[in-house]
Amino acid sequence: MAHIRAMTRNDLGDVSRLLGASWRRTYSPIMGAENTARLSDERHAPDALAAEIDDEDKMSFVVERGDGSIAGYAMAAMDRHGDVMLERLHIEPSEFGGGLAVDLLHAVLAAHAGIPSIALEVIEGNDRAIAFCRKHGFEVVERREAAHGVGGHASLIMRRLLPRA
Ligand SMILES: CC(C)(COP(=O)(O)OP(=O)(O)OC[C@H]1O[C@@H](n2cnc3c(N)ncnc32)[C@H](O)[C@@H]1OP(=O)(O)O)[C@@H](O)C(=O)NCCC(=O)NCCS
Repeated sequence: MAHIRAMTRNDLGDVSRLLGASWRRTYSPIMGAENTARLSDERHAPDALAAEIDDEDKMSFVVERGDGSIAGYAMAAMDRHGDVMLERLHIEPSEFGGGLAVDLLHAVLAAHAGIPSIALEVIEGNDRAIAFCRKHGFEVVERREAAHGVGGHASLIMRRLLPRA
């Protein structure tokens, strides 16, 4: 059985590897292999992830399998206006379609009870992620041209409105 818990420093290596592999697999066909590897190595080094764990405006979660391995990861960040962005959501491909991604999304939402909405940025062409987001109530609210998107590639901002408690 897999369960979701807050990420700790013990997970830094596993999450860094998961992100590196997920970025390369997902974004290399869209952004190019070199660009993708460079951006991922910059952003997902264990030290960078450790700083996020220490940042009280960021919340990081992992899905841990029964054998202790990490099957998924999510990170959400709140800005100074109280707006929450789901910055990352990554599942091991062997678990795609198994419901772990929505479990992680629900964990993020539960940790931010009372927020009016949650947003994310997704690269155009990441069709599986866009389909996942639409299925779970996110709608496109903005399109960013390549110059302002992710890694020099156009992106979509999607937002899900949340019911008032
Ligand atoms: C995005 C992600 C977390 C979603 O988790 P998941 O378990 O794959 O999601 P689901 O299977 O529940 O939903 C994906 C949907 O996309 C559909 N889909 C798959 N490939 C697709 C494609 N090329 N085009 C359109 N839809 C596609 C699936 O059929 C499924 O819809 P369904 O449930 O109606 O059949 C996971 O795919 C992932 O980790 N991807 C790599 C990292 C990433 O892109 N993160 C998102 C950054 S915003």
